[in-house]
Amino acid sequence: ASLKALNSFGVAARAARLITLDDPADLDAALALIARAPRALVLGGGSNLLLAADFEGTVLRIALRGRRIVFDEGHAAIVEAAAGENWHDFVCWSLDQGLSGLENLSLIPGTVGASPIQNIGAYGVEMRERFDSLEAVDRRSGERRRLLAGDCRFGYRDSIFKHPEGAHWIVLSVRFRLSRRFEPRLDYGELRAELAGARDAGAVAAAVIAIRRRKLPDPVVLGNAGSFFRNPVVDAAQADALARRHPDMPRYPADDDRSPGVKLSAGWLIDRCGWKGFREGDAGVHDRHALVLVNHGAATGAQLLALAERIRDSVRERFGVELEPEPTIVR
Ligand code: EPU
Repeated sequence: ASLKALNSFGVAARAARLITLDDPADLDAALALIARAPRALVLGGGSNLLLAADFEGTVLRIALRGRRIVFDEGHAAIVEAAAGENWHDFVCWSLDQGLSGLENLSLIPGTVGASPIQNIGAYGVEMRERFDSLEAVDRRSGERRRLLAGDCRFGYRDSIFKHPEGAHWIVLSVRFRLSRRFEPRLDYGELRAELAGARDAGAVAAAVIAIRRRKLPDPVVLGNAGSFFRNPVVDAAQADALARRHPDMPRYPADDDRSPGVKLSAGWLIDRCGWKGFREGDAGVHDRHALVLVNHGAATGAQLLALAERIRDSVRERFGVELEPEPTIVR
């Protein structure tokens, strides 16, 4: 089966077998199929994925649908969406219910079920701040469990699900705690500027959408997986040394208890190495944001990965900083 339409990079990789789970009643049968497969890959929207080769195994695409208000407490509510719901549609739905909290995360590609995997974040808010719990199934035993934030070990673009000790969980649905009292989160300067005084959740969503459309390529038009690298965290001494040589280098406190230090802008580092707008064949770097690798049409995953390696080498050579890929890379 072709996976071209199932990954936002638009890479034309193939899988030996593809199963789509759109009915919860088929869950056990789907788990039995992937248990027998030589390799298995669980897929949501495929928007944080680089298929570097064909997949000699079974791909399980989670397409479970449904969203509802679970508890309404008046000033706040717990809402739930099945893993296969489109993230941005879910954000719009929550705003339509008069519930705020997800507006800064508007227009992020992918599904609700993928949102906790890398703890999606943008414009000053991370998913974990709105997270209540999720239901997951253990793909080995079929056991279902509700996991709380502590179980998920969220970090910057990270969670237990990205590590071997959490890799057996398949997310079925996610609950969020949202509010009827709008509390704007406007730490991100460009968002404040875009808003120009407007003060409701819908206006914040509209401003985020405008900024994203300006800077980030629409995967439907130009294949990409958002930021290709995490913003690197370095220790204070290295950050100071770099800042002395590059006074205009952006730096932020890492404010992540698991990685103290200074966060640098991968986009800025890559831009400074001259990569913005670079293209070789159909693999390239976006001309408006150096952190986004793009597929101009027929790039293979291997070509995109080779470009990523060259970028990584040049940033290491020039700045002594190691970049780590953000998307899941399937080889
Ligand atoms: N910059 C450059 N050149 C570039 C790109 C960026 O100099 O080509 C500079 C910018 O001028 C700015 C800094 O780098 O000073 C940061 O850029 P930006 O504000 O665009 O954010 P980012 O750090 O590159 C992160 C997330 C995005 C998220 C935005 C907004 C990561 C890896 N990326 O990008 O998330 O949308 O902030 O909050 O944390 C994603 O994860 O896929 C993603 C798109």
